[in-house]
Amino acid sequence: MDSILVKGGAPLSGEIPIAGAKNACLTLMPATLLSDDPLTLTNAPRLSDIKTMTTLLQSLGAEVSSLQEGRVLALSSHNLTSQKADYDIVRKMRASILVLGPLLARYGQATVSLPGGCAIGARPVDLHLRALEALGATLELRDGYVHASASGGLKGGTVAFPFVSVGATENVLMAATLAKGTTVIENAAQEPEIVDLAQCLRTMGARIEGDGTPTITVEGVDQLHGATHRVVTDRIELGTYMLAPAITGGTVECLGGRIGLVQAFAEKLHDAGIEVSETARGLSVSRENGRIKPVNVETAPFPGFPTDLQAQMMALLCTANGTSVLEERIFENRFMHAPELMRMGAQIDVQGGTATVTGVDRLKGAPVMATDLRASVSLILAGLAAEGETVVSRVYHLDRGYERVEEKLSACGASIERIAG
Ligand code: EPZ
Repeated sequence: MDSILVKGGAPLSGEIPIAGAKNACLTLMPATLLSDDPLTLTNAPRLSDIKTMTTLLQSLGAEVSSLQEGRVLALSSHNLTSQKADYDIVRKMRASILVLGPLLARYGQATVSLPGGCAIGARPVDLHLRALEALGATLELRDGYVHASASGGLKGGTVAFPFVSVGATENVLMAATLAKGTTVIENAAQEPEIVDLAQCLRTMGARIEGDGTPTITVEGVDQLHGATHRVVTDRIELGTYMLAPAITGGTVECLGGRIGLVQAFAEKLHDAGIEVSETARGLSVSRENGRIKPVNVETAPFPGFPTDLQAQMMALLCTANGTSVLEERIFENRFMHAPELMRMGAQIDVQGGTATVTGVDRLKGAPVMATDLRASVSLILAGLAAEGETVVSRVYHLDRGYERVEEKLSACGASIERIAG
């Protein structure tokens, strides 16, 4: 297993290109199952999760070609041979559940392994299943699989989510495009990835309104056609790299960044004393002098502060000039980076979903272990500012969501390298 070695202390300056969004691409790819025609995705990120989704779709008989060094994905499901998503693939990546809605809508049946939990929480899929039942699907849980059918096709209906779920919104949105009649999704997720999916589905001929608001309305159509769609910029990668100059000092321009993707996060950076400004090519972030100011953070569905930036923000606040409180309200176990940051000298008290961070002058480099995707990059950010060397092990977590992180950061002056293990 590879590790990443970081020697802290250098202020960063330069520019970092931001890739297409992993979490948009992981729902755009299964959309190919909704049509016989080819779907082409551009600005695709080159990540191991994308490879896993590629393997899953190919296991169903879909064709997925990776072109232009992985930046373009050409997909087609005109020769699908199976509607069964096997456990050995699904267990590697929870987003695999996103083939359920499209398979059900297009073929009237699907057998998809339950994803199982993951490090940050149990992460059930009950909302996905209830939503599809509201469209007339019959679901049976047996042997660890969801056995779904919709003889005669799905029918439009009302889906009222008790709380926001990104994946369940995506699953039922895709299914509703081919259901007979009108579907109304209430308390829908409003993330940019939902809007990106809706835009792609409209290009394929779907009739969708209200994406980006809490209520989405879908008029089912008989079939969808092919499309070419550009994957939206990754707001979580954007926020992550905005924190690099914030934590080390210096100025970095994040190419492709748009303030609308990270409004709530950027406001918290401003409160912490970081300057964020829009440029012709993206967002410029700088901290020239003075210590970070403490801020309180509460994660929430979009447009609130993203849970996927909570670990990274905690790394910044470890050296703030005061005490900050972070409330993790989306997942039940998303502070696993805290004990690792404490190995670097951070002072963090975790009580349930609340972490209280008392800032220290400087962190100290140490060997630490990545536990999940976003925790791994928060440890790298901490290492950039720490005194001495930090070695982050188990970076396979990192490679799921960040391409070439050591190249992007060393291009801005960071002392960071990958150690093959
Ligand atoms: C998506 O996961 C993202 N993943 C996550 O990013 C992100 O953290 C999350 O949305 C929240 O923004 C992808 O898009 C591939 P949810 P998802 O359904 O859809 C509970 C990353 O780091 N819930 O919005 O699985 C769930 O347990 C990943 O890139 C149910 O109880 O998240 C959680 O507590 C991590 N039943 C909350 O809802 C369900 O049926 C929100 O989950 C579904 C969810």
